[in-house]
Amino acid sequence: MISSTLYAAKRRSSTALVRDKKLHNLFLLPASQTRDKDALTEEGVASVINELRMYFDWVICDSPAGIERGATLAMRHADEAIIVSNPEVSSVRDCDRIIGLLDAKTKVAEDGGRMPKHLMITRYDTDRAKTGDMLATDDVVDILSVPLIGVVPESKDVLKASNVGLPVTLSDENSPPAKAYMEATRRLLGENIPVTIPEEKKSLFGKLFKGRAA
Ligand SMILES: Nc1ncnc2c1ncn2[C@@H]1O[C@H](COP(=O)(O)OP(=O)(O)OP(=O)(O)O)[C@@H](O)[C@H]1O
Ligand SMILES: [Mg+2]
Repeated sequence: MISSTLYAAKRRSSTALVRDKKLHNLFLLPASQTRDKDALTEEGVASVINELRMYFDWVICDSPAGIERGATLAMRHADEAIIVSNPEVSSVRDCDRIIGLLDAKTKVAEDGGRMPKHLMITRYDTDRAKTGDMLATDDVVDILSVPLIGVVPESKDVLKASNVGLPVTLSDENSPPAKAYMEATRRLLGENIPVTIPEEKKSLFGKLFKGRAA
């Protein structure tokens, strides 16, 4: 039944949905590909999202970084938000401003509600956090005061996956970043599981070598 619903969405929608080659219940809708970034209007985005809402369990609006129009358009009609931050001061500062907009410039906020928010920290490097080169997860959570939904470690598996045109969750489901994304998804769906930071298993040789170098 799921696929017939999705086909219905594709047939009836005035939009250009593209079915993902691997995940048959995932459809993609590219935003404006023209140079004219003003091609998207607020009314247009609202009508597309409201149409897609009728046919899909989740409509995920990816947003450009920063607080420009693209970001405010993407967040405007959201029911909940996942704020993605690198553990770096500049990224955390950007997210802080986004949180302000989520609480002021969205339909939910204008209707007197409060946008449910989740924080995802990505490209996290335990060693660099320990030496103070990067913020620790607790610091990011303290600054932003948004509950953590997941911590994705920095990993070469992400680039490897991107080079073969796959999400890391499909290219290597046992890799630390894939596990982190899958766990975050389960939390988003309401499961109550503690947030862990999946790490590469280091070989005994690696551990000894690291110990000596330190
Ligand atoms: N966990 C990770 N480990 C290593 N590299 C990563 C990780 N996550 C993302 N990257 C790399 O960082 C770069 C940017 O990632 P991504 O496109 O997800 O970020 P973005 O903030 O959405 O960027 P944009 O603003 O361009 O949309 C990519 O080259 C990607 O391969
Ligand atoms: Mg992006």
